[in-house]
Amino acid sequence: MPDIYDPKFVKNVFDRCSDRYITFSLICSFGFTERWRRQCVAAMPALPTGKANGYDLMAGTGEAWPHLLKRFGDIGSIIAVDISSGMHRRAIERLHAHRAHRIEFIEDDVLASDLPPESADFVISTFGLKTFNSEQHARLAALVARVLKPGGAFSMIEASDPKGWWLRSLYLFHLKMVLPLIERIFLRGAQDFAMIGTYSTNFGNAAQVAKMLRDQGLEVEFSKYFFGCATGVAGHKARAGA
Ligand SMILES: C[S@@+](CC[C@H](N)C(=O)[O-])C[C@H]1O[C@@H](n2cnc3c(N)ncnc32)[C@H](O)[C@@H]1O
Repeated sequence: MPDIYDPKFVKNVFDRCSDRYITFSLICSFGFTERWRRQCVAAMPALPTGKANGYDLMAGTGEAWPHLLKRFGDIGSIIAVDISSGMHRRAIERLHAHRAHRIEFIEDDVLASDLPPESADFVISTFGLKTFNSEQHARLAALVARVLKPGGAFSMIEASDPKGWWLRSLYLFHLKMVLPLIERIFLRGAQDFAMIGTYSTNFGNAAQVAKMLRDQGLEVEFSKYFFGCATGVAGHKARAGA
């Protein structure tokens, strides 16, 4: 069995998925992923400054940017960070001329990243948590705490296992059986999206990430979306002297 949490393995999964990721994610989630990205941006506390600069970690094809730029119209720049060159290339293709001057890209493994300390007014991440195990979540929490400036804000969201919800088994059936079937039928037998169901159920929910971020000294609020089918963490780093 391959180590599905090895960053090289994850990179390959997303490199192979990149061309179909946007359509698949929108259709197979019945539009929920878009709604959850919008809610993730809405959950982010006010930014400490106008012309804010920050990171979109595990940015993929840049799905969070329209929501970010809509809520915070005066953002100075979004620095998209992703390990997958395929997702990265697709993100560039999707850039609109009016947005391009506000987006930068860094191809980087966030688990071994040397992004500079206190370099961000905000950190956002949508659906980038599930391909990490707990030890990797701890590293990510340390990175978020390190790169945020005092007063900086963050918000992250991930598809989760809605434990306790009476329709949980139907949801898991959709993730683990329906999605791979659709992929086999409509996507020429590829098996990449089948992995996403496995990652999501292994992930559980974002409660443990909330604890790790608190352990790093950040103020954190944990939220459930749609009966816990997605969960998120949002908060900020205390201002100096606060
Ligand atoms: C499910 S996609 C999410 C994309 C996008 N943020 C969205 O809202 O749909 C997860 C992304 O995380 C990236 N990723 C996974 N492991 C990573 C790592 N160690 N460092 C940086 N990016 C990583 C993948 O390449 C992929 O683009």
